[in-house]
Amino acid sequence: MSEAYKLECMRCGTRFSKDDIVYTCGKCDGLLDIKYDYSEMDAERVVEAKGEGVWKYRALLPFNEDTEPVTIGEGNTPLYRCDRLARSVGITNLWVKHEGLNPTGSFKDRGMTVGVTKAMELNVKGVACASTGNTSASLAIFAARAGLPCYVLLPAGKVALGKVAQAMMHGAKVFSLNGNFDDALRVVRRLCDEERLYLLNSVNPYRLEGQKTIAFEIAEQLNWEIPDRVILPVGNAGNISAIYKGFLELKELGITNGVPMMTGIQAEGAQPVVHAFRHGRSDIIPEPHPETIASAIRIGNPVNAVKALRAIYDSGGVAESVTDDEITDSQLLLARLEGIGVEPASAASIAGLRKLCDMGVIEPDERVVCITTGHLLKDPERAIAICEPPYEVPADVEAVRRIMHDMKGERREELVYA
Ligand code: F0G
Repeated sequence: MSEAYKLECMRCGTRFSKDDIVYTCGKCDGLLDIKYDYSEMDAERVVEAKGEGVWKYRALLPFNEDTEPVTIGEGNTPLYRCDRLARSVGITNLWVKHEGLNPTGSFKDRGMTVGVTKAMELNVKGVACASTGNTSASLAIFAARAGLPCYVLLPAGKVALGKVAQAMMHGAKVFSLNGNFDDALRVVRRLCDEERLYLLNSVNPYRLEGQKTIAFEIAEQLNWEIPDRVILPVGNAGNISAIYKGFLELKELGITNGVPMMTGIQAEGAQPVVHAFRHGRSDIIPEPHPETIASAIRIGNPVNAVKALRAIYDSGGVAESVTDDEITDSQLLLARLEGIGVEPASAASIAGLRKLCDMGVIEPDERVVCITTGHLLKDPERAIAICEPPYEVPADVEAVRRIMHDMKGERREELVYA
């Protein structure tokens, strides 16, 4: 059914064939959207669908029935109710959707299963991306499953250890680029055009089709009731655009009756979307020197900014920034108060929640979902740096006991950071 879709420029409306390898509009350089004829779709097929994860929502993906997906069991991540964290920020209904529990440890797997399946359909000779780390790890693994050559460009010295290890281990050709993510994306886009490699950054609209299933899962996990607000970190700005599209589609099909306020959080040192939002602009002014400890979102020129700002404005959401210290405090708080281990960029959503509650932007009775995008083990060096070191002791019961008795056994409720 969902073979009936169109690739359309969001700015000038030009349409492209699904066999074209295009990422932006050839006429005006606008971003592309995948559009379906919703009147032809059967909402029941979405609500009643069996199975798990991304491909469960196949009726809303751009493939025909007999496409064989390249899959590693992505999606189907837990939505944790977080009452302790809710109390600590003064609201009553809070959930965390932990996308770090995808097979490669980040939400990127949802986009890659769709993107690499499309790559196979297009019969490309290889796949490539620029990355702050997670995209490259995910692409390397899906390319291995598909048997495709894979090339990834990473900003030198700015990618967390776990992510580089994944890309290298799974056989991607890894380039350490003397520049930042924005430079890497500029270079890989040219190479993909000239070398006929398939680009799998989030400017590729098929990636976003996979990622929109986060919205479907949230809605389904809440019994097809949408939350009032969804909060997530923003880097290249694809995920917030994708999730908004997912919620819009559910509304279009009459499955739900609204969309949540899309709330994007950036790090203070890399906040072009927040600046645009504060000035009511529909596009960003690139930041040439982005800097933050949340290396996944260290991006100054997000390629999907126009889509992300549209999602934020149209849903009545906001964009806000948080400091690196606020990110660190929130990473520790989430880990210890709720047992959810995330990498720094993901903790930006929690830092944003805390700040927006303090500011009174979030009302106490709002139903809020925070999305945590990547697993703690992606960035083990940062985790070790922000925690107290282990106690060094001789192999002796008394020595251990003495230190134990000196410790304060804190109750979780009493944990307060910053
Ligand atoms: N959180 C994590 C853990 C990420 O890896 C990223 C993006 C984001 C949030 C932001 O998502 O770009 O869709 O706004 N990482 C990309 C990468 C850029 O290369 O792995 P976005």
